[in-house]
Amino acid sequence: MSKLKSEDYFNDPGFWGFIHRSFTKSMGYTDHDLKKPVIGICNTFSELNKCHSHFNELAEYVKRGVWQAGGLPMEFPTISLGEPYVKPTSMLLRNLMAMDTEEMMKAHPIDGVVLLGGCDKTIPAQLMAAASVNIPAIVLAGGPMLNGKYKGEEIGACTDCYRFNLEHKAGNISDTEISEIENSMCRSEGHCMVMGTASTMASIAEALGMSLPGCAAIPAPDIRRKHMAEKTGIQIMEVVDKQILPRDIMTEKAIHNAIKVTMASGGSTNAFIHLVAIAGRLGMKLSMQTFDEMSSSTPFLLNLKPSGEYLMEEYFEAGGVPALMKEIEPLLDNDCMTVTGKAVRENLRNVEVLDRRVISSFDQPLGKEGGIAVIEGNLAPNGALIKQSAVSEQLKEHRGKAIVFESLDDMNSRIDDPQLDVDQSSVLILKNVGPKGGPGMPEVGQIPIPKKLLKQGVRDMLRISDGRISGTSYGTLIVHLSPEAADGGPLAIVRDGDEIRFSLQEKRLELLVEEKEMKERMSEWNAPVPHYDRGYGLLFQQTVLQADEGCDFDFLLPPELRDQPDKEG
Ligand code: FES
Ligand code: MG
Repeated sequence: MSKLKSEDYFNDPGFWGFIHRSFTKSMGYTDHDLKKPVIGICNTFSELNKCHSHFNELAEYVKRGVWQAGGLPMEFPTISLGEPYVKPTSMLLRNLMAMDTEEMMKAHPIDGVVLLGGCDKTIPAQLMAAASVNIPAIVLAGGPMLNGKYKGEEIGACTDCYRFNLEHKAGNISDTEISEIENSMCRSEGHCMVMGTASTMASIAEALGMSLPGCAAIPAPDIRRKHMAEKTGIQIMEVVDKQILPRDIMTEKAIHNAIKVTMASGGSTNAFIHLVAIAGRLGMKLSMQTFDEMSSSTPFLLNLKPSGEYLMEEYFEAGGVPALMKEIEPLLDNDCMTVTGKAVRENLRNVEVLDRRVISSFDQPLGKEGGIAVIEGNLAPNGALIKQSAVSEQLKEHRGKAIVFESLDDMNSRIDDPQLDVDQSSVLILKNVGPKGGPGMPEVGQIPIPKKLLKQGVRDMLRISDGRISGTSYGTLIVHLSPEAADGGPLAIVRDGDEIRFSLQEKRLELLVEEKEMKERMSEWNAPVPHYDRGYGLLFQQTVLQADEGCDFDFLLPPELRDQPDKEG
């Protein structure tokens, strides 16, 4: 075995060796234990993060595996981010979590690490950290909740949360019923069980080769997740032994595999930001064009909400991520190394799709293209995204007049105003919810349908913002407009009544205002007052990159990428 970092701590014959051994033995470990490789178990349990409520138990199973394979498991915490609570948005803290994880891994005698993640921002933060630190690492996702069930219907968090909330708001569901639905929606520990951001990122960890095959889809309370935890504990020892490093695994080709799996799954738009950020840590600049090309050439196969019918439990029964990867094997780079110590090809050797209702065949896909399209045009010079699999038929080609909300507060105060001059052809525009403007690019791109239109039966409209949407959202939502309004992007100068044209076919979004007029408006534009004048918020505001650049902090990119901003990956 190669020289391990823990050996520097525990084999040191000098003063510090004495201190390290003595203080470690005070926790009950013996000299025998101190000869073993140290495996850090990054346990992001938190009672403030519902999706990680079972992590203490899961960590015990990882430890079991580590002990069996001859390692010394040591659990450590980092911050933990649960979507429902963190305000103003968990995205504001993703980079903080990535920094926390990175620095914990660097500062301690850890030879390898198992990263327990689940809720949306956690696995991205952990993969960003693993990419930067580059010590042996495996991601163990916490797994999705069991399917929600209400009155014989399978319901999914949070795709159906929006629908029930809308019907409640429209007066079609009573207060008592909505309380029952709350009880029936989230029936167990685990993260959201649709193909939202959490499921997308767990699938990405697997597609990259950073999780054991089959890990992503096992429901959190299923005993097989505990088996997976133990297996992960055993496997990290092999990864340490063979010194297979995150950068041997997360190559450019592996990132492309992950993009294709995301497209075939109808995965979350948030995957773009996170994958760009992960690639950035590896010294690669992933362009929107790369995503678009891969989206156009990858069929959409996975029939899961929010783009399809089923939930993660059925995905698991259908074979999970390995089965999906098997189906798109001709598109993947099958030589990529993974944490199994084997290439993708080997991992997929005996895999098959077990339920065609859930995973369609490559030849008979649900859609010819991936779930997400990159949109361009004068409103989004650096691109924008749309989940095309969730676009309403009647809005695929659309022209309408803008109704502009300058901020989230502005929108909240006026959206349901009966006087608002809006009809179903209007285009709802929300500004200043980008990385700097939000701050932290909150998931508010699913602009609510005005109540008076809801009552008329309108359920979708063309909605545009520089914010994000939850991976569980649906509807005709153009998001991630880049550059954002608060950074002087053209979105900043859109006014009420301006005509907007959208074509999904052409992947274009245009503000139909003369260029001269746009320039004039821009010269009169003033940047909004920054949200923070101190602390982490100030650091965020000053250093956060735009959505198309992954929203990492500029100083967290490797120097070579900062010096060559145009290097393509
Ligand atoms: Fe954690 Fe949905 S709240 S994944
Ligand atoms: Mg989410």
